[in-house]
Amino acid sequence: MALLSANDSFSYMTAITDDLVQDHVRFQRFLDRFEIEIAKLAGGDSPNYEILRLLCEYFSLFPDEMHHKKEDLVYDVVFERITGRCEPLHELHTEHIKLSVLVQNFARQVEGVLNDQEIPLELLIGTAKEYIETITRHMRKEEEIFFPQALSLLAADDWKNIHLGIADLCTEERYFDKANQVRKIEATLDEFIN
Ligand SMILES: [Fe+2]
Repeated sequence: MALLSANDSFSYMTAITDDLVQDHVRFQRFLDRFEIEIAKLAGGDSPNYEILRLLCEYFSLFPDEMHHKKEDLVYDVVFERITGRCEPLHELHTEHIKLSVLVQNFARQVEGVLNDQEIPLELLIGTAKEYIETITRHMRKEEEIFFPQALSLLAADDWKNIHLGIADLCTEERYFDKANQVRKIEATLDEFIN
């Protein structure tokens, strides 16, 4: 999420991929908590709905509106460089859209519960599990296929251009607002989790 400070092409490559991998580490930490709350629901216990609401807000905002936009800048160049079809790579774009729909559906269901609507338990658990499984599989695919492809296919100038694209993204006022919002949600979730 940080602005990159790299000053040569190799550093651009390392800074960009490290930043994306670090985002995944942060997502995984909160997904672990997501799983705990859903396991409570599936086991007949009451989850902490405030944590679930914060997790929905977090996963709607950070992966959806920030992390995937940075990855898309890398994807675009990988797609230009790759010869022949690579199904797992092509699926990644579609999965970004699927993840967005799933987390928004789950957020609506959680809001429904908090507003005393009757939301079937199976629906709530099913949507959450599908989201957790899809994003986990998606991140592994990126780490095992997409990032290595990018590292081997992209040239120094590509990384410099991606760095400039990310810098543009990060200096947008809306991005600053979202980054601040993400930091606040993370701090609140940390208080619940620790
Ligand atoms: Fe990712």
